[in-house]
Amino acid sequence: MSAKEFDRPSFDEFDEMNNPRPEATDFQRISDTLLSRRRFLGQSAKFGAAALLLGTTSLRSLPSAAATGVDFKPVAANALDTITVPDGFDWHVVTMWGDPLWSNSQAFDQATRGTEASQLLAVGDNTDGMTLFDIDGKTVLVANNEYVNLKIIYGNRDSKAPETDDDVRKGMAAHGITVSELRQENGKWQIVRDSPYNRRLTASSPMEITGPARGHALMKTAADPDGVLALGTWNNCGNGHTPWGTYLTCEENFNGYFSSSDENYAPSAELKRYGVGNKDWGYAWIRADERFDISKHPTEPNRFGYIVEIDPADPKSTPKKRTALGRFKHENAELVVANNGHVVVYLGDDERGEFLYRFVSSGKYVEGGNNRDLLDDGTLYVAKFSDDGTGKWVPLTPETTGMASQAEISILTRQAASAVGATTMDRPEWVAVNPNRAEAYLALTNNKNRGIDKTNAGGDAMPVDGPNPRAKNNYGQIVRWRPANDDHTAERFNWDLFVVAGNPTVHGDAYAGSANVTADNMFNSPDGLAFDKRGNLWIQTDGSYSNKDDFAGMGNNQMLIGNPSTGEIRRFLVGPKECEITGITWSPDNRTVFIGVQHPGEKGDSHFPEGGQSVPRSAVIAVTRKDGAVIS
Ligand code: FEO
Ligand code: CA
Ligand code: CA
Repeated sequence: MSAKEFDRPSFDEFDEMNNPRPEATDFQRISDTLLSRRRFLGQSAKFGAAALLLGTTSLRSLPSAAATGVDFKPVAANALDTITVPDGFDWHVVTMWGDPLWSNSQAFDQATRGTEASQLLAVGDNTDGMTLFDIDGKTVLVANNEYVNLKIIYGNRDSKAPETDDDVRKGMAAHGITVSELRQENGKWQIVRDSPYNRRLTASSPMEITGPARGHALMKTAADPDGVLALGTWNNCGNGHTPWGTYLTCEENFNGYFSSSDENYAPSAELKRYGVGNKDWGYAWIRADERFDISKHPTEPNRFGYIVEIDPADPKSTPKKRTALGRFKHENAELVVANNGHVVVYLGDDERGEFLYRFVSSGKYVEGGNNRDLLDDGTLYVAKFSDDGTGKWVPLTPETTGMASQAEISILTRQAASAVGATTMDRPEWVAVNPNRAEAYLALTNNKNRGIDKTNAGGDAMPVDGPNPRAKNNYGQIVRWRPANDDHTAERFNWDLFVVAGNPTVHGDAYAGSANVTADNMFNSPDGLAFDKRGNLWIQTDGSYSNKDDFAGMGNNQMLIGNPSTGEIRRFLVGPKECEITGITWSPDNRTVFIGVQHPGEKGDSHFPEGGQSVPRSAVIAVTRKDGAVIS
């Protein structure tokens, strides 16, 4: 099959085609041009992170805690159809899309690629964010199944699309969450079939709506007139976890599953802001369930786009949609308990020109106490960055936004953030908090519309500015901030850029990247971020794997390890062809790091991990040291 047949627009591109972005005003255009000229005037061709701050203090020059390090020789970029790890390390597959969870599950069928019935009893597709839990001595992996690749999961159909009702329902069952107990045998991790912890949550599983939006008129539907129970979770991207033992899954591109039976239906501005329109992305869920028809059920999409809390220790528990954390295209949910005991959750909205958020709980975390509903009550903030290296969190309340109620702000969060003039960002992906100091890192993956007179879906301009320093940014960057007084609940923070990705073998200007990017470690589109226990920053990429032109020499998507103290970045792993590396968690003994390999062969050119002519399958892999020592 030629790669051409697999070409399809990205989620963002599809949304933009459906809902063309307004042009920025002339005034914006003129001021943006002046700003960007000033910005790069007099800068050396190859800048360091500090130079981007135009004379302010770089966080890197501040005193730094933590000796960090992983002992390994970096690997070279490559375009092989396998995993590459450094000398002294091994890897093996732990779970794959379609693997049986119970003894009455069917083995994955290469010819049909499964049915609804088989998929309901098997690992979901497109593994993404994940956390390993130690529950009463059992090792339980909770992993997101973000979406499906139509041309892979329906590769048995001539149309490479769902053709029957069962096809559609198979797709719905491949989304959601997979919970599986794991056990290590002869050094290799594998699924414990029939474990009482094994569970699938799909696009049809009941979920309780909690927090400010519970019962609001915008949440009520014909099937749920009280607005308290939604069916399903999907497009679960990044994740988080809490100190009270629960998992947080993050609903991202929830919009692409809705469509309209009436092609002349005019979606509301509220729906359009979230990219909900008359056409879905080919999943055809409307065929299996009428609630996906926005002309008949216009409030149904309001019940998606949340953080969902799941208790992996109780397989019968009903997951809770925590609406206090806002509704947008959630990336991950990085939770930290601030020094004063309040729970802080950092949240990104991954779309061009959308925002960075922070939730601060009203209650305080008490170890061993009743923390179960801490995420239902608190204040949601959005970030405003200034060019001078400072920033502040603006609360989203009826007073600051002019909106009617906290419930409305919880449902129409993007509109609330636009109302207070938040900083439009280059696609906020994962946030990770440094365990050794009050400091957070955010991957800004890329934004080809930055600085070219386009706006976000809400009409907010995207000028070249502080943490988004390049027009037509196709490489991405990682911004970090330190809260005032080392207090994650503080109003103000200082920021700088930890790394600006680029290609120094192709460019000699800002697109070469910051000083810590070299021909040996270059990458594009940072996405997944996580700190290990010692304080090393693991960076996963979801970018162009073309390996040519602007991306020449970068090879497949990859994972790198950054040192927050020195800025040094080294490549640890290269993924197989046409994959994204996303999702990371460690075993309790820190001797295994689990990594997600999503959609190998999304354009038709991979047989990872089984090789031969097999169907490519998303997989969770385990990486260990050959000598069995701890990873870091
Ligand atoms: Fe699902 Fe923004 O990545
Ligand atoms: Ca991502
Ligand atoms: Ca991404």
